[in-house]
Amino acid sequence: MTLILGIESSCDETAAAVVENGRLVRSSLIASQHDLHARYGGVVPELASRAHIERITPIIAEAMKSAGVEFADLAAIAVGNRPGLIGSLLVGVSAAKALAWSLGKPLIGVDHVQAHLYAPLLVDVTKLSRADAKRIEVPDIASLFPALGLVVSGGHTSLYWLESPLRMKLLGRTIDDAVGEAYDKAAVILEAGYPGGPRLDKLAQSPGADPTRFVLPRSLLGAGSLDFSYSGLKTALLYAVRGQPQGRGSQSRFLRSAKDLSDVDRRDLAAAFQHAAIDTLISKLHRAVDSFGAADRPASLLIGGGVSANSLLRQRVVEFSAQTGLKVMIPPMAYCLDNAAMIAGLGQVSLEAGQISDLHLPAIATSQIA
Ligand code: KG4
Ligand code: ZN
Repeated sequence: MTLILGIESSCDETAAAVVENGRLVRSSLIASQHDLHARYGGVVPELASRAHIERITPIIAEAMKSAGVEFADLAAIAVGNRPGLIGSLLVGVSAAKALAWSLGKPLIGVDHVQAHLYAPLLVDVTKLSRADAKRIEVPDIASLFPALGLVVSGGHTSLYWLESPLRMKLLGRTIDDAVGEAYDKAAVILEAGYPGGPRLDKLAQSPGADPTRFVLPRSLLGAGSLDFSYSGLKTALLYAVRGQPQGRGSQSRFLRSAKDLSDVDRRDLAAAFQHAAIDTLISKLHRAVDSFGAADRPASLLIGGGVSANSLLRQRVVEFSAQTGLKVMIPPMAYCLDNAAMIAGLGQVSLEAGQISDLHLPAIATSQIA
C-alpha cells in the first residue's frame, strides 16, 4: 500500500489529504476562506496568504489524523506548486518541503490544472471503515484513455487530449475569460452574492426560472475552433441588466442598475446566463469529438474544476454521454472544487513515473499545460 499526503494552497482554500494507491481518498480536508474574502467580492491575495499560514499546519495534522496515518507511513509528500497566486502557493510549497526534508521522503510538485483532470478518478472512502474500504473494487482507469479532458475553473477553460493522466496536449482554451470567472462576474452584475458561481447556479435553478425569456449569445468562434470566449456573454448580460451605456468615453453612463430588476427578472437572467454558458461548453465538446476520426476517438471524457459542480453541466453531460457513447467521468462534488486529494492522487502517478522534485521546487503562477 502506498500513502501520499497531498497539500493544496493555490488560491483561497487551504487543503490537505491522504490518498492510498493513488485512488482511494482516506481523508480530504478543506479550510475555505470564503468568509474572509466575501466583503471584498473576490480573493484578496495578501489576506489569502496569511490565512494559509495560519491554517496549513492544523489542516495537515487533521488530514493525517482522520486518515489514521503516521508521517512514517507516507511514501511521499505531493504539493500543488502551479498555477496560482504566488503568495498562496508558497505556503503549501514551503510546508511540503519542510515535511519532505525532515521526514526524508520524496517531494512531488503537481500541476493543479492537471490534477483537476485526475479528480474524477478518485474514489471516496473517507466515510467507510478500514475493513469496508479494503473490500472496495477500484475500477481500472487504463480503459478510459485516450481521453478528452475539459477543465472548467475560475482560471481555466481548456480542452485536452490525454494519453494518460500525465501526458496531455492542449486542444483549445479560452481567449478571454474563463467560464468560472464569467460566472463570478455575472454574479456581481446580478448582485447574486459571493461566491458567485454557486450562487448564480442556485438562482438559475429557482422554481419557475425561464432560460428563454432573455436571449444571451453563445460564442462559438470560427468554424471548427475548439477555443472558448466568455467576455461577450458577460457584456451581453451587463447590458441586459443595466441597459446600453449612454454617452461616450468617461461620460458614458448606465441608465439602470441591478436594483431595478424584479426577482423574476433576476432569476430569468441567471437562467439565461447559465444556459448560454453551459450550451457553449457542450457545443465545444461535440465539436471536439467530431474532430476525431472513428479510429482515434477518445474512450472517455474527463471533467474537472470548480464549474464541474454546476447543476446544469452535470445534467447535460449525461445527455452528451448518451449521444456520443463516450464514458463521462465527472468528480463527486467534494472533488470538483479545489482540494488536496487530486494533488495526492496525481502525485502517486508522478511518483510511479519517477517524476520527483527536489527542495528547489518553485511556486509558479502559470500551468505547464495551458
Ligand atoms: O477549481 P476552482 O475551485 O478554483 C480554480 O482553480 O479556479 O474553481 C472555482 C470556480 C469559481 O469561478 C467558481 O465560481 C466556480 O468555480 N464554481 C461554479 C460552481 N461552483 C463553483 N460555477 C458555476 N456553478 C457552480 N455550481
Ligand atoms: Zn482549481
